Amino acid sequence: MCGIIGFTGRAAALPVLLSGLRRMEYRGYDSAGVAVVSAGGIQCRRAVGKVSALDAALAADPVDASATCGIGHTRWATHGAPAVRNAHPHLSPDGRVAVVHNGIIDNYAALREGIKSRGGVFRSETDSEALAHLIREKLDDAGSLIEATCRALQNVEGTYGIAVVCTDAPDEIVVARKGSPVVIGTADGASFVASDAAALAGRTQSVTFLDDGDAALLKPGSFEIRSISAGAAVVRPATPLDFAPGAVEKGGFEHFMLKEIFEQPEALENCLRGRLLSEDGTAKLSGLHLDAREIASLSGIVVTACGTSYYAGLHGAYAFEQFAGIPARIEQAAEFRYRNPIVAPDTALVSLSQSGETADTLAAVREAKRKGALVLSICNVVGSTIAREAGRGIYLHAGPEIGVASTKAFLCQVAALGMMALLFGRTRRLSCEDGRAIVSALEALPDLVRAVLSQNDKIAAIAEKYAGARDAFFIGRGYQYPAALEGALKLKEISYLHAEGYHAAELKHGPIALLDENVPVVALVPQGPGHDKTLGNIQECRARNAPVVAIATEGDSAVEAFTADVVRVPPCPEFTAAVPVVVAEQLFAYHVARLRGEPIDQPRNLAKSVTVE
Ligand code: M6R
Repeated sequence: MCGIIGFTGRAAALPVLLSGLRRMEYRGYDSAGVAVVSAGGIQCRRAVGKVSALDAALAADPVDASATCGIGHTRWATHGAPAVRNAHPHLSPDGRVAVVHNGIIDNYAALREGIKSRGGVFRSETDSEALAHLIREKLDDAGSLIEATCRALQNVEGTYGIAVVCTDAPDEIVVARKGSPVVIGTADGASFVASDAAALAGRTQSVTFLDDGDAALLKPGSFEIRSISAGAAVVRPATPLDFAPGAVEKGGFEHFMLKEIFEQPEALENCLRGRLLSEDGTAKLSGLHLDAREIASLSGIVVTACGTSYYAGLHGAYAFEQFAGIPARIEQAAEFRYRNPIVAPDTALVSLSQSGETADTLAAVREAKRKGALVLSICNVVGSTIAREAGRGIYLHAGPEIGVASTKAFLCQVAALGMMALLFGRTRRLSCEDGRAIVSALEALPDLVRAVLSQNDKIAAIAEKYAGARDAFFIGRGYQYPAALEGALKLKEISYLHAEGYHAAELKHGPIALLDENVPVVALVPQGPGHDKTLGNIQECRARNAPVVAIATEGDSAVEAFTADVVRVPPCPEFTAAVPVVVAEQLFAYHVARLRGEPIDQPRNLAKSVTVE
């Protein structure tokens, strides 16, 4: 979704702004823009399309290359079509103020009417332009940009992360946050702002996340934070920015998605490191801040998330019931928020989010808190809103995930939920011996993934046979059911092929009507309790002439009666088999999309972090 970048320092601002925008390209956007401030005023350039289109606009009509302060933005359209007039930054009519905005202004219609009645003229259809007008209106009386911004925001309802520059103070940037992330940092006489810490990787050693209700004034090399409403100074802690060098580069891979698929063994190692206690057959998850008494008194678990995180959550709900004997259910975050669910006493809500910023998941966290649930989070992005609002939780430590299609986050979510289920199980009913077996199974995850990665060429060859299909089904049972849902989502979001994930037993209750020789079925059939029954379902598909791709355990020759297109996963317990299976699905989806020539890292209409409902 939208991205914000800002820089003030002694060096030229434009290269920093453009490289920051590129770092956020993975978030998904449809237009981009920059504004730099210098003695000559504010110069703004905007373009529809990628940052490369903005480069072209700047080449055709350059801005002052010596300007040392500026802001930039990538926009994902909400109010108004993708068009230059709707791209950010937005300027006040006299060009004195420029604003970039993430979020949605709920009362923008009323604000626009008010501004128009005072003579204001709008040049875009966006909700954001009202902010430039409002701040400009307050500027003369307020006496400073930060005061004018805070006064303007008192009239604004909705969500925002903003960065503002003004000709009155050409080396200042004012930023503010309510519901949309803003992160600031300093280094070597420069200050930076971004909506995403990844944009600041390599620029600063540590970052400070604003809280809702905070504004900050950035000058070269320093910043001050204050409350928007009260004006009082506020101190927020700094967080180390621990992106490894190259973490936000492709590192020789054709796409971030492929790089991230291949990073999964290491991501899992980082996720598991120091958390498994082999001797005691349990896990240590300090961030949960739960004592044994609290775990023992849990009466139920609700797991909530969106998209891929939801499918990982479904896998986790099965594990909570299997290992800990706690009734557990998964609920879509948007549904949890709006259907007024019953939250029984002693219920834990486990919220899952790679980004930690997904609007529906955040809303579910807030609703669960209101209803008295014990709220826990599993996030990847350190310092993200969900992680901070939940208060108790663990991080995935998967490293930055840049490709829009989630890969390593899913695997680490499955591992993190597995560790949580193990901890809860050992606190309640699981024997030490059973706990040790689960520890061993979790420790084996990275090698299970490596075994599938080594079949990349074979999977590419299988993908070639099916890249021309229009529809596909993924089927599985038990823990392979969430894996089927995830496989279908991966294929549809990056290849635009219509794909559906089904419980293998459900196929015959309707979707089987769609099967014929043109509709491949990816059957997830590793050894385990559902194996033989799924073989029966494969037979049903073959009887309708549907070609089958099987993902099966090494040495299991039963599937060969139905297909030669078999990807092998190593033998492992039922509970961990979804991990190598999903890696095979990721590679299959990746190669289908590549062969179809689709823009894998930035699929159409999708955003990495969905911060609107
Ligand atoms: O950041 P989150 O995990 O909360 O994101 C949830 C979904 O938006 C995300 O998983 C989405 O479904 C991805 N495109 C899946 O690849």
